[in-house]
Amino acid sequence: MDCSLTRELEAALGSLSKAVLSQPLDTGQDSRVDIRPLLIKNRPLFQIERFRGGKAFRQNVEAEELLQIFAAELDGRYRQALIVSGGESAQYSLKRSGAYKRSGRAAVPRPAGEPLSHNREKEYILREGENIPALVDLGVFTPDFRIVKAKYDKYKQINRFVELVDQEYAQAGREKMTILDFGCGKSYLTFVLYYYFAVKKGVDVQIIGYDLKADVVENCNRIAEKYGYDKLRFVCADVSRDALYGEKVDMVVTLHACDTATDYALNYAIEKGAESIFSVPCCQHEINSSIRRGGELDIFLRHGIVKERMSALLTDSIRAAVLEDMGYRVDVIEFTDFEHSPKNLMLRARYTGKKGSAGRKQATALAERYGFEQTLLKLREEKTEESGEN
Ligand SMILES: C[S@@+](CC[C@H](N)C(=O)[O-])C[C@H]1O[C@@H](n2cnc3c(N)ncnc32)[C@H](O)[C@@H]1O
Repeated sequence: MDCSLTRELEAALGSLSKAVLSQPLDTGQDSRVDIRPLLIKNRPLFQIERFRGGKAFRQNVEAEELLQIFAAELDGRYRQALIVSGGESAQYSLKRSGAYKRSGRAAVPRPAGEPLSHNREKEYILREGENIPALVDLGVFTPDFRIVKAKYDKYKQINRFVELVDQEYAQAGREKMTILDFGCGKSYLTFVLYYYFAVKKGVDVQIIGYDLKADVVENCNRIAEKYGYDKLRFVCADVSRDALYGEKVDMVVTLHACDTATDYALNYAIEKGAESIFSVPCCQHEINSSIRRGGELDIFLRHGIVKERMSALLTDSIRAAVLEDMGYRVDVIEFTDFEHSPKNLMLRARYTGKKGSAGRKQATALAERYGFEQTLLKLREEKTEESGEN
């Protein structure tokens, strides 16, 4: 059946993922044109990206203007067209008459590894196909915003992380927010937090990511600059000893910050009175390498794997107890399915000001009896000695 491509696009706009025009009639034309929806400061727009001579030219327009441009400059000038909307992709080919014929329609394939039932149950906060160009630079999305297979677990983790932060943001009712990300690494999470809050929701958010690796930090700053993310920056620092951001901080986040870097992040959050903390610890060697026999818990120390897991759980229990002692309400939750990361415990903490916990005293007693070190506990004990604070 013949159809007008402009009308097909108009009908698809409400749920458009992308439209692609290729094989131009005239060789002087753009070789390809991509159209995608995007949200800038809560304004729904469409990006027209034209490819010519190895370069891409982008233009962001509202729906009405898109349809005008499409009808005037694009419709009827490309032999092939693809419109992906509402989970379906439709292909069109140009006929001699200048009308298009729909040559196929198919469900959009899901990324490998994800069971279909999950798709039906789960609406991700960041949709696959969403125009997040920084994620293309970071290698999480392909150039047409599909998830890179090898990054699928990371994508799920980040989505869940942002979802939890968003719930907290909604409850806290802040107008602006400063977030620090400790051990940000390649900064998938940091970029997505910035995109979600600053670009998509239009929140006045400032985010700083810290990492030890100078080249990684430099690359992240370059990408932030490329997309005009002017309140997102990355700093090369060792969080265990360098001077960090000195103003008010609302939220501290960590995602798999190595070993004791998590403790320094939590200690910083306590010192700065950060209202919220979201911390997913990583490898936890400290207790495992220092714990020795001392009593009834020796049964956990006989087998290497049990000792390692017990040490990791003890580490997080102590961190939670110290945070509670310092006035935080703490939930320890599984933030993603084990299959997407074995390091899947999250400490989610919100400042209430209700200080004091029996847990911290128990932690100190255990550390003495079993001879282990735990950095957050040690840092808070040093602080107590220095200042006489509890
Ligand atoms: C496993 S990566 C996680 C990166 C990122 N958050 C993510 O989830 O993809 C841990 C990062 O923590 C950084 N790191 C470890 N110790 C640190 C320290 N003392 N100060 C700053 N960054 C640190 C490492 O350089 C590394 O990039």
